Amino acid sequence: MTIRKQRAFTCGIVGAAAVAWVALAPTPLVGSTRPIRARQAMVVSQDPLASRVGDQVLRDGGNAVDAAVATAFALAVTYPTAGNIGGGGFLVYRPAVGDAVAYDFRETAPAAATSTMFMRGGEYDRRVHHNSHLAVGVPGTVAGLHQAWSEHGSLSWERLVEPAMTLAREGFVVRDSLARSLAAVLPRMVDYPASVAQFSNQGQPYRVGETLRQPDLARTLSRVALQGPAGVYTGETAELLAAEMAANGGIMTQADLAGYRAVRRAPMTGTYRGYDIISMPPVSSGGLALIQMLNVLEGYDLAASGSGSAATIHLIIEAMRRAFADRAQNLGDPAFNTSMPIDQLISKDYAAELRLTIDSDRASVSSPDSFSWPVESEETTHLSVVDGARNAVSLTYTLEQGYGSKITVPGAGFLLNNEMGDFNAAPGLTTQTGLIGTGPNLAEPGKRMLSSMTPTIVAREGQLVMVTGSPGGRTIINTVLMTILNVVDFGMNIQEAVDAPRLHHQWLPDETRYERWGLSPDTLALLGRRGHRMAEIGVQGAVSAILYNAEDDMLEAAEDRRRTSSAIGF
Ligand code: GLY
Repeated sequence: MTIRKQRAFTCGIVGAAAVAWVALAPTPLVGSTRPIRARQAMVVSQDPLASRVGDQVLRDGGNAVDAAVATAFALAVTYPTAGNIGGGGFLVYRPAVGDAVAYDFRETAPAAATSTMFMRGGEYDRRVHHNSHLAVGVPGTVAGLHQAWSEHGSLSWERLVEPAMTLAREGFVVRDSLARSLAAVLPRMVDYPASVAQFSNQGQPYRVGETLRQPDLARTLSRVALQGPAGVYTGETAELLAAEMAANGGIMTQADLAGYRAVRRAPMTGTYRGYDIISMPPVSSGGLALIQMLNVLEGYDLAASGSGSAATIHLIIEAMRRAFADRAQNLGDPAFNTSMPIDQLISKDYAAELRLTIDSDRASVSSPDSFSWPVESEETTHLSVVDGARNAVSLTYTLEQGYGSKITVPGAGFLLNNEMGDFNAAPGLTTQTGLIGTGPNLAEPGKRMLSSMTPTIVAREGQLVMVTGSPGGRTIINTVLMTILNVVDFGMNIQEAVDAPRLHHQWLPDETRYERWGLSPDTLALLGRRGHRMAEIGVQGAVSAILYNAEDDMLEAAEDRRRTSSAIGF
């Protein structure tokens, strides 16, 4: 029997019992779900055309940052659901040599934003908050990609934008998933003629095999290629965007655009069973909540209680519950919340305190001090890249909901986000039905809205282990958590780790959502007996992950079959 390399690689850290088991395990390439392997370099994204763009950049000698930037621009054309230049996101970069760094290009609230801007006549107005020109935050994507490139890229900026420009200008063949997605969103674009013109075939949904061309977007990308961020934050693009806002009750101005800055941050770091976890700090809650949950779970022998067992799932849910409660109470834009207890929340001592509150036989009850949670959009997208030197990029970005605000900037051809919906509803407006009114994440001029995006890189003893991330609103954090547990605790190869069923608990509502077919009836019964309320859902997330298998110096990627996913390497 062959020693299973993946398990040997990942299980050395969980103790002698696990190592002994490794020797009995089968090879991962027979009788298991196989990862896609490549020796040199690899890119995984949610669109095959975009992954191919990143792959070509790597073949042309570009590094991981170059490939991530080119893939992100390509996604803005071929995956308009979430790929964007009108949204924002986060990029975590871990060079093979040197310190990891995080780029925050989250959208900001325009200067005229107020904490009560989503109220009308004394009542909260959900449409204004999520589906209006007031829902649009100042986009960050181009500034963030440019900053990461200018500090770490190696190919020219034009070279990285050019493939997206060509895809927009010459068009690309619409695949089934995009055809279905566009057909579904078209009725919600009717108020925005520029969106209907760009994303329909003369008013009719695009059919599979037809070509989608986006000439206005191609022209905007050409300005970006030539001028860098100035191509969107000043000049013609900014004028077009500000005019669309002014004509439709929006508050974003050319000054807001000119003032936008991406921020380089120290990554949020922690450890888990000897692995280094490198993720996104606030204004994303992702890295902090992930590390907090891992710290709590480190105190349990999950390998012994087993993947998918009621005992293990119970502990995971209890860790999720506590991290999401702390997230709700404490987190927001660090520039506006200077005393967030970050060090305490990610400390091992605090995790030990939390473990004392976990009863292994009984679910805790989430107690809404005064607030609950809304459901969040799933339409974000993640890409992972590793290059030949083993530099790694983990990038998650979004328009918030699918196709964002559904507003295309007339003449500029790109969709705007509705990220202002990630701010809390209004001061003190907290309801059982899902509104939140806590202070740290209320809209204020220039403030970044709290996010759950969790682009993450795992390393061990100075060596890359894994690059991962996912779309899915708040579920992102738990999807990333479970992917890491599946590799580190349960010894799954990366494809198995991505295939494995997922679940989500976010403190409130006090229920655990689990994927259809993900839990057996007797497991559900055992969890029910512990006091957990379980709710079946369809699928959760769409992980793009690459694992570096140091034993044979190979990259192993997973495609997530829950949605379109494309891993390409060489
Ligand atoms: N808009 C989803 C997030 O930032 O978490």
